[in-house]
Amino acid sequence: MRREVEMQDVDWTAFPKPSEEMQSSWLLQHSPKVKKKTTIRKHTCAWTLAFVGIVVVIACSITIRVRKTHRQHYQQQQPPEAYSIALHTGLKFFNSQRSGHLPDDNNVTWRGDSCMQDGKYPGSIHPNLSGGYYDGGDAIKSNFKMSFAMTMLSWSVIEYHSKYQQLGELSHVEGIIKWGTDYFLKTFDTSAADTIHDMVSQVGRVGTERYCWMRPEDIDYERHVHICIGECPSLAAEMAAALASASMVFSENVAYSQRLIHGAKILYKYAESSMKEKDGSSSWDELLWGGVWLYYATGEVSYLDRVTTLALAHDPSRDSGHVFSWNTKLAGAQLLMTRLRLFLSPGYPAEEVLRQYHDQISIVMCSYLPSFNTFKRTKGRGLIRLQGDAQPLEYAANAAFLAALYSDYLDVSDTRGWSCGPNSYFTYVLRDFSRSQIDYILGKNPQNISYVVGFGERYPKQVHHRGASIPKNRKESCKGGWIWRESSKDNPNVIEGAMVAGPDGHDVFYDVRTNANYTEPTLTGNAGLVAALAALSGERNMFDKNRMFSAIPPLFPTVPPPPAPWAP
Ligand SMILES: *[C@@H]1O[C@H](CO)[C@@H](O)[C@H](O)[C@H]1NC(C)=O
Ligand SMILES: *[C@@H]1O[C@H](CO)[C@@H](O)[C@H](O)[C@H]1NC(C)=O
Ligand SMILES: *[C@@H]1O[C@H](CO)[C@@H](O)[C@H](O)[C@H]1NC(C)=O
Ligand SMILES: *[C@@H]1O[C@H](CO)[C@@H](O)[C@H](O)[C@H]1NC(C)=O
Repeated sequence: MRREVEMQDVDWTAFPKPSEEMQSSWLLQHSPKVKKKTTIRKHTCAWTLAFVGIVVVIACSITIRVRKTHRQHYQQQQPPEAYSIALHTGLKFFNSQRSGHLPDDNNVTWRGDSCMQDGKYPGSIHPNLSGGYYDGGDAIKSNFKMSFAMTMLSWSVIEYHSKYQQLGELSHVEGIIKWGTDYFLKTFDTSAADTIHDMVSQVGRVGTERYCWMRPEDIDYERHVHICIGECPSLAAEMAAALASASMVFSENVAYSQRLIHGAKILYKYAESSMKEKDGSSSWDELLWGGVWLYYATGEVSYLDRVTTLALAHDPSRDSGHVFSWNTKLAGAQLLMTRLRLFLSPGYPAEEVLRQYHDQISIVMCSYLPSFNTFKRTKGRGLIRLQGDAQPLEYAANAAFLAALYSDYLDVSDTRGWSCGPNSYFTYVLRDFSRSQIDYILGKNPQNISYVVGFGERYPKQVHHRGASIPKNRKESCKGGWIWRESSKDNPNVIEGAMVAGPDGHDVFYDVRTNANYTEPTLTGNAGLVAALAALSGERNMFDKNRMFSAIPPLFPTVPPPPAPWAP
């Protein structure tokens, strides 16, 4: 967690921890609660039929039909192709957000080269900072958010590599990730052998960039470069996660992959040392997240040791804020470590702590279920309200990704479900949750609007975005551009694939450019959306269990079988 943001207070103690007993009783239990309830309800209907007569029969059968359609509803609502189409669309947003010198085939007609002078000023220690991505509707390049976005994309590519391949989007998504990692490699001293002393954290000052309304292509003022010297453990660990995860995406490009791993290692070391100097308690989740990614990228046990020390795994004072987002990585780290336990069960000494992560992520999954009332939901089709009242969609998309991915982990490890206290649930409950959130985003909501530009019949037309709201050939000054912000007309440029911030807590959405709470898209939001769509689209059997483990040597020394007695 980087800044103190107000988190919704979640009473995590409200969930009984799923103990081993519960987990194993689940494995033995063959008639789960869900089924029993249906049976009881049917009996009740039969009795009512006998006693009260035909009127009630009708009422009852209607109820059953409604319940059934509700169940099937989420199993059949969006054909799998819809998720694939949305994934094609959602990826295009990243092309619109590119900064620096664009490739000829960037495919966004209204974008051109921009902010080529970033970092170039007398005495600059990072003189070439052109490149990277703008975070949202302005021209700020934030390493912290960009890192999280790239990590999410890489994660989804590692888990669902062949889906991207089948959809013809593999080289596209790889190009998107590389655009980010190439930029990261410019923002610290990659030639350092061991660790670094400073790093760039952001280009563009919030005040200026929010005040000015101009196309990034036309920015002519000097852009402020924020540099961290001996601090920023969260950022360094987050960037380590981004570089480590990307090294697995580019494993076939050995030289590049090695550069990424080296960068990740020196960043992580810097994160650890600056965490010791500062009060690092708010960087603890990034340390776990960066560490587990480094373990997967390198297979080096020292990283596993770091993230499975008891002190890190279980500190109740840090138990709040489990909402997985660009600002809080804990749940992501827990899920990644549960992956290790489910598929490789490394045993002692990591087992004790891995089991705790497994328990913790089970509780996170329980918190997504409506029956637990952990989070508020909107009335119309139940969009989960993970984080206050503004910009709900990116948090919902992240949760949808985690839930769908966990259901794949469980299914592939032959675990039929998981426990929330005394109740057990099948894995399809997780997928239903995931689909319900993504379907809401794609148009099954009370506004009948798709919150992804270019997907579906109706979508936002006044996206809060400087480049999209000013015609390509109009060069405006900082303040001159305000007329485009205030205009009540649709944007002249369609920013394809952008997922906007979303509706308010009552499913109400105003398509107005001036209110970023409704209409601003973000890099991190689209990354979560794309990751969730990768998990939900295509065939279930296209989950890739082994790619994540490719750097990990066999955990147990393989003892050669004794020679057969008749061998010479
Ligand atoms: C632009 O579109 C073409 C054709 O679909 C594709 O091959 C190319 O990779 C795209 N370029 C980028 C930078 O995404
Ligand atoms: C800055 O970086 C870009 C992209 O990496 C590169 O194309 C360009 O030549 C560099 N500019 C200078 C002055 O080195
Ligand atoms: C959305 O569609 C439903 C069913 O087609 C309709 O009843 C409802 O009025 C529509 N809502 C809006 C806001 O257009
Ligand atoms: C956007 O949401 C934030 C947080 O809820 C709130 O403080 C702010 O006033 C809202 N902005 C607008 C323009 O409604």
